Amino acid sequence: MAVPGSLNRYLLLMAQEHLEFRLPEIKSLLSLFGGQFINSQETYGKSPFWILNIPSEDIARNLMKRTVCAKSIFELWGHGKSPEELYTSLKNYPVEKMVPFLHSESTYKIKIHTFNKTLTQEEKVKRIDALEFLPFEGKVNLKKPQHVFSVLEDYGLDPNRIPETPHNIYFGRWIADGQRELIESYSVKKRHFIGNTSMDAGLSFIMANHAKVKENDVVFDPFVGTGGLLIASAHFGAYVCGTDIDYNTLHGLGKASRKNQKWRGPDENIRANLRQYGLEKFYLDVLVSDASKPSWRKGTYFDAIITDPPYGIRESTRRSGSQKEIPKGIEKCPESHVPVSLSYHLSDMFFDLLNFAAETLVLGGRLVYWLPVYTPEYTEEMVPWHPCLKLISNCEQKLSSHTARRLITMEKVKEFEDRDQYSHLLSDHFLPYQGHNSFREKYFSGVTKRIAKEEKSSQE
Ligand SMILES: C[S@@+](CC[C@H](N)C(=O)[O-])C[C@H]1O[C@@H](n2cnc3c(N)ncnc32)[C@H](O)[C@@H]1O
Repeated sequence: MAVPGSLNRYLLLMAQEHLEFRLPEIKSLLSLFGGQFINSQETYGKSPFWILNIPSEDIARNLMKRTVCAKSIFELWGHGKSPEELYTSLKNYPVEKMVPFLHSESTYKIKIHTFNKTLTQEEKVKRIDALEFLPFEGKVNLKKPQHVFSVLEDYGLDPNRIPETPHNIYFGRWIADGQRELIESYSVKKRHFIGNTSMDAGLSFIMANHAKVKENDVVFDPFVGTGGLLIASAHFGAYVCGTDIDYNTLHGLGKASRKNQKWRGPDENIRANLRQYGLEKFYLDVLVSDASKPSWRKGTYFDAIITDPPYGIRESTRRSGSQKEIPKGIEKCPESHVPVSLSYHLSDMFFDLLNFAAETLVLGGRLVYWLPVYTPEYTEEMVPWHPCLKLISNCEQKLSSHTARRLITMEKVKEFEDRDQYSHLLSDHFLPYQGHNSFREKYFSGVTKRIAKEEKSSQE
């Protein structure tokens, strides 16, 4: 068993989806549960097999109660590039660490897992028989074993070049599975209230994990829409709230987003969505409000801000204001004034968002948001910067041949002072993102070009 304070080697079996998001998720969760990220593999790359060191089995179990990027975790007993290497490695694994799981009173089962190859039943049995030398004294129980052991064989990533023998073979004791089933149980397809831009369930959980959301946190989404991101945070026990400029969305009015339904029904709102999943007690409130003019008193209210701002593709980037744009700071609206909307430049929107996060997050709190980019022009310098926020991770998700959105995670590392508000103007990062204000035009030009190209090649 794990000796407290020592590091044990674990094998994570990762899902082969959202590859770039996996490492920041695992790192964030380990730091949330008190286990620093220490890898014992040179690189993880695209492989589904990750060896890492974790201080205790409890931390490994906590990690699996949260991850949607990992499928399973095993206590690693042996590893090799050939069966012989694996057996030598297993023979070197301390017997005292094996015995608690192999003694005569125990029941067990051995499973064979292959990646990028299917084995016959006969081949599987051979693999199991070859492990005879291990001191198994318990009884085999295929239905309800106390302990499950796995042989995992890695045949690489290329389905067109599957090698005869595996690149790597692992043997370990299964500890726990991750939360992949949440992707199905929280699927937007089965959700009560949805919109055109409702965030996919899997990505919502990844975002909440990057944000290190935990029980009793307060999580805020300034561009809340149908509240997809709030649902994931509430599932992890956080109290949630949000704002959106669109009255109809928050009040569940107007046209429905589902096929075969013209208008939204009477109870289509964020509270009802949380109720659907038994999470209503985590609902604080939502408010119709413009993110460019936050209506919060000064204070640090939020443990995390998780959001998907509009990019102007399926929803417009608007803010309230008078047609004659009045410079910030001297704006004063008479009470009778009904604001009309102005276009909200992307760079202003991210500048406002970072300032808002720097002002309202608790120290150590995280901001997780999507940044749309035109890939041919994207450089790392474009990622908006703030003196109070440290960049933790930056992962790409492709949207089209020329566009992508990047999931940015930042952590508040310094208390906000008034002079921090404009310090981004001094940064090298401010100017490059200005160029992205025409993201919408670039997005559509990219799409138009691609369609034209596809049409041309189908005619040839
Ligand atoms: C990409 S959607 C968010 C979708 C949301 N994550 C969900 O799961 O439904 C962006 C939202 O920002 C809102 N929005 C646009 N401009 C805004 C502004 N200036 N202030 C607040 N919300 C705004 C839009 O009405 C839209 O609902």
